[in-house]
Amino acid sequence: MTQDIEKILLTEEQIDALCARIAKQIEQDYQSSPKKLILICILKGSLPFTAELMKRISLPIEIEFMKVSSYGASSVSSGVINLHLDLHRDDLSDANFIIVEDIVDSGRTLSYLVRYLTERGANSVRTCTLLDKPDRRTVNFTPDYCGQIIDDYFVVGFGLDYNEKYRNLPYVGILKSSVYGG
Ligand code: PRP
Repeated sequence: MTQDIEKILLTEEQIDALCARIAKQIEQDYQSSPKKLILICILKGSLPFTAELMKRISLPIEIEFMKVSSYGASSVSSGVINLHLDLHRDDLSDANFIIVEDIVDSGRTLSYLVRYLTERGANSVRTCTLLDKPDRRTVNFTPDYCGQIIDDYFVVGFGLDYNEKYRNLPYVGILKSSVYGG
């Protein structure tokens, strides 16, 4: 896999540091809240980020999983959000939610999820992303917590895939354009 990587964008050490920084921010923001805090891991890409983040938050938290997709097998967003795995909770009013993502691109996925959970009655909904590509935005959206703003590179690793590959790389790297024919 490493031969397909043009350049490492975030090393394991840099990922560790940004997870620690965000965890501290979350602790400060939620330590006085009487409501429970629930992290929602958006499958599949945010699995490693959620795992690294959650173990650094020293507050009582719960974990949930949702799965949405907008990309399919293409490197370009289809613009359609598909909800594959929903949140199986009846009452969302007793909890503050943080939706955890690997990357924000067009912003459609997180905009949709924030609206969806808010309409279902969540006490509060915030968003947290490892990477943000603001240059790619097609909707007005800003994440509440962000690890790193990046230029419009095709990035893989630490959860991010190309055709389901490279998710298990321990770092975030730029994929060689020869791999995806870009
Ligand atoms: C990716 C990523 C976000 C979304 C961001 O998911 O994990 O969920 O796209 O794009 P947007 O801001 O344009 O909506 P993907 O659909 O590729 O699923 P995956 O996490 O299973 O790879």
